[in-house]
Amino acid sequence: MCLTIPKQVISVNQRDIKVRSGKKTEKVGAIIKVKKGDWVLTINNIAIKRISKKDAKEIIELLEKQPRTINSVLSKEFKKIIEASYSRQLTKREIVYLLNTKGNEYKALLSEANTVRKAYLKDFICIHGIIEFSNYCRNDCLYCGLRCQNKNLQRYRMTPEEIIETAQKAVDEKGYKLLVLQSGEDYYYTDEMLENIIKKIKEKCRVFIFISIGERGRETYRKIKDAGASGVLFRFETSNLRLFEKLHPKGKSLKKRYEHLKFFKELGYFVATGSMIGLPEQKNNDIYKDIKLMQKWANMISMGPFIPTDDTPLGDAPNDEKTKQRKIELNLKMIAILRLLMKNVKIPVVTALETLAGEEGRKRSLLAGANALMFNLTPSKYRPLYKIYSDKFYQKKEKWEHYGLFKFEESYKMLEERMRKEIKI
Ligand code: 5AD
Repeated sequence: MCLTIPKQVISVNQRDIKVRSGKKTEKVGAIIKVKKGDWVLTINNIAIKRISKKDAKEIIELLEKQPRTINSVLSKEFKKIIEASYSRQLTKREIVYLLNTKGNEYKALLSEANTVRKAYLKDFICIHGIIEFSNYCRNDCLYCGLRCQNKNLQRYRMTPEEIIETAQKAVDEKGYKLLVLQSGEDYYYTDEMLENIIKKIKEKCRVFIFISIGERGRETYRKIKDAGASGVLFRFETSNLRLFEKLHPKGKSLKKRYEHLKFFKELGYFVATGSMIGLPEQKNNDIYKDIKLMQKWANMISMGPFIPTDDTPLGDAPNDEKTKQRKIELNLKMIAILRLLMKNVKIPVVTALETLAGEEGRKRSLLAGANALMFNLTPSKYRPLYKIYSDKFYQKKEKWEHYGLFKFEESYKMLEERMRKEIKI
């Protein structure tokens, strides 16, 4: 499912339809009936959906080109770095410079990344869905509300039937083409159960499935891949070894995280990985290393701000307005830098950023170079219980769903094409 820039029909005659977006006019075909004045969404020069003028205006505002920051206020050094990013990898010094930008250079960094997104990925924003099927977790990560020692959390597990039904509804009724199945590290679900869930969903729906179930052996991941999963979401959380060890009780190691990433690649998974941003003691040097690791492993970026959470050992970490703003800005800078470094990578807007930045967080992320959205599809009775962090943001109803909901084959094919560039399918 994707969101794209709306175009207005300016004339219709027997052979073709002329549409306009901005100053550009073009001829398109159509699989729907249109008349002059209608607003439509098109894929590959075919109008596939009519939308209201009001919705069109809202999408245009979101995807519209932002004014570029005036050149004269930017330092020579900054301009040199941005220019260099067009043709070569940036050095450590250059990346750290960008991480430290403020004021006009900060704004310019984000708008440059947005320009790169538009140049490489056009105005397509992918919309994916996530189903959080269990909040049981055997781990005890110091930052996470699902940690097993948190006795204040009411736990739930969805049955395989519920998971399959939720997935099928998302695909059939709403048009989702990519679903993430996520849970705490919960061994209640055996390999066989997971395989069956994936197989059944794949039998019933034309959809890509990504899984996010934590550290399990290579063999489990092989079986799940054979059952039909295409991608994994698996964060390394932080590349700072000392910090990693502090945050994770014994039994977890950064080395093991890297081993997982390696075998995911070997097994042919589309890998979404990344870190948490703004962890206590984390420095820009660590963030630089996190960025390099994402560059090494990620087909899709999965990173977000750390949010102090009740009932966890890190619940008292600073969470004042200034700290929040700093994390939001750092997250946006990271999105922008990764977009400059990895022109085609998928960067979703994450819920944690929306939790800190509110509704604007989504728009701000897209305007900094993000190109995907992840909507929560967990049944509403379970949703408040998947409390990885406090005050987790979610919309009761995603009004954006109806903009971008292409139940059409084109939308699936586009995603398939995109995936095929990175993995064997
Ligand atoms: N703040 C932000 N993100 C968190 N996660 C876990 N706890 C928190 C928190 N307090 C993230 C981790 C994990 C993902 C599922 O949720 O990065 O990989």
